[in-house]
Amino acid sequence: MPLPDGFIEEIKFKNDIIDVISSYVNLKRHGRNFVGLCPFHNEKTPSFNVYLQSNSFYCFGCGVGGDLITFIEKIENLSYIEAIRFLAQRTGIKMPENDGKTQELLSIKTRIFEINREAARFFYERLYSEEGKKALEYLKNRGLSSKIIRKFGIGYSPNSRYEIINYLKKKGFKYEEMINANLVYGKNGSKVAARFFDRIMFPIIDLRGNVIAFGGRVMSDQQKPKYLNTSDTLAFKKSLNLFSLNFAKSDNDGSLILVEGYMDVIALHQAGIKNVVATLGTALTIEQARIISRYAKEVVICYDSDEAGEKAAARAIDLLRPTGLLIKVISIPNGKDPDEFVRHYGKDAAVRFFQLIKNSENDVEYRLQKVANNYNLNESNGKVAYLKESVRILALLDNLIEQEIYAGKLSEKLNVPKDAIILQIEKEKKKKKRIIEKKQFLQVQENLSARNDKINVEKFDNLRAATAEEAIIAYIFNNPEMAGEIFCRLSSESFCTSFNKKIYSTLEERFKALRPIGITDLTQDFSSEEISAVAAMVAKESERMSDKDSVLEYIDVVLFEKEKLNKNKIISDYGDENEIMGYMKLLREHKK
Ligand code: UTP
Ligand code: MN
Repeated sequence: MPLPDGFIEEIKFKNDIIDVISSYVNLKRHGRNFVGLCPFHNEKTPSFNVYLQSNSFYCFGCGVGGDLITFIEKIENLSYIEAIRFLAQRTGIKMPENDGKTQELLSIKTRIFEINREAARFFYERLYSEEGKKALEYLKNRGLSSKIIRKFGIGYSPNSRYEIINYLKKKGFKYEEMINANLVYGKNGSKVAARFFDRIMFPIIDLRGNVIAFGGRVMSDQQKPKYLNTSDTLAFKKSLNLFSLNFAKSDNDGSLILVEGYMDVIALHQAGIKNVVATLGTALTIEQARIISRYAKEVVICYDSDEAGEKAAARAIDLLRPTGLLIKVISIPNGKDPDEFVRHYGKDAAVRFFQLIKNSENDVEYRLQKVANNYNLNESNGKVAYLKESVRILALLDNLIEQEIYAGKLSEKLNVPKDAIILQIEKEKKKKKRIIEKKQFLQVQENLSARNDKINVEKFDNLRAATAEEAIIAYIFNNPEMAGEIFCRLSSESFCTSFNKKIYSTLEERFKALRPIGITDLTQDFSSEEISAVAAMVAKESERMSDKDSVLEYIDVVLFEKEKLNKNKIISDYGDENEIMGYMKLLREHKK
């Protein structure tokens, strides 16, 4: 049973779209709508729009759009039904008892959590069994105490492709469920085999305490890959989670330390430093940057000091800056990673580490220092090259006071007038702005291009019709009071492209059944990509602001294009010679 209309209406009514989105995005009024920096991709000038009239949002930069429910789905990484639950809870609305087929998805997810918890238990037990001896020894050799092993639930997956399968089967799990959790390969019973074997297992736990995934490390350098992680499942997206955030979220004084690896987190934790998180085998993502900014005011990047680590740190800085977090960067002396650092200093590790943080540079100083290392500042050539690169770094600063301070420092260091440096920075900023604007413009064009339309694949071949169809659909969302008249003048049968036809006929049916016809009311029946496409139509229509006369014109265009399409179809069905015959047939059918 789908969710009742009244319930969706109540959710819509009680959750103001501006109110909700504002807690994630800094929105500014822009005419009748609101704009801000898109939370779903990294951008410098705002192309994320919220439309009051249709209760929808759309980003011209990355092409993501939808209604309030879609927004919560995406930003909180929730399924449709969970997003509804989220919005219901937010405003104290009671969920209906039976929330339909989407319940199924929720139960698949719940089962993944259950099976992962059972698997974690299995791995932990095996670590302390006979076959886990060498694994336990490995962990002890790396300095981990039994206490920390228990705290992180570290385990061992035995060197067998079937042991865990038999174990989980006995616990009542089906093959399908093991496959859903990515613990097992294979198709429903035929040739199933464990994904993880003979590895140290690190459970990955979300903020609600669910085991959502695993990272598995080999114990010898010969085996590859060093770490094998759970692939994305219905219950896990690696780009949206951080290792150990479950501990760090409440154990920090507004500062989170970002490291590269599981072992770095665990070693620091054991040394008493608990406000540490790591990404899950990928570079930092924009979503993770946002999550960090939700739990802290300051982030301390502590990546390996090798070349790869430095590159990753530079990328992380780029993603973290727009969130407004204070950024510090520490590099551990002698190319060590945090885990080796802790091992090296033993009991003193925490004190030493705090010292490192205290003496750390902020991101600007860090970058300037990195650049300075490349040049001989006693030579004019070196000085000029250093100045050029530094100017480029300082041009990234939006904050003019910061810019002023660093320009001053640079001026002292190189004995060059500060005003000259500021002038260069401003020039560089203008140049950058032009480049960024051009890039964003091209991206917007790409997103708007019909050739690129994956949802309405017929659009490119029926451009005139599809454009008019979309304008009509969007107009209805913006002016629902006009729906009746439009449906009278234009039947969905006259639509040329099937995707638009599907949307239009759904609206028409709902209208005839006296049901509400907002974008949110469609979310149960369409995928979030499809809803995104509808939001795009609305966004484009909001630029045009068609009046009633234009809509009547769009209707004429659709009718005309449909007729043309029918004529061509007859010609191709009957061949050119029979064109007249075909036409006659069409006319006869028309009269019937
Ligand atoms: P590192 O190679 O720096 O490993 O990878 P580490 O965490 O320091 O582990 P130890 O000290 O060698 O045991 C950093 C992170 O990158 C991911 C893992 O999340 C790891 O913690 N990674 C690395 C993978 O996902 N796969 C790999 O093959 C290697
Ligand atoms: Mn390491």
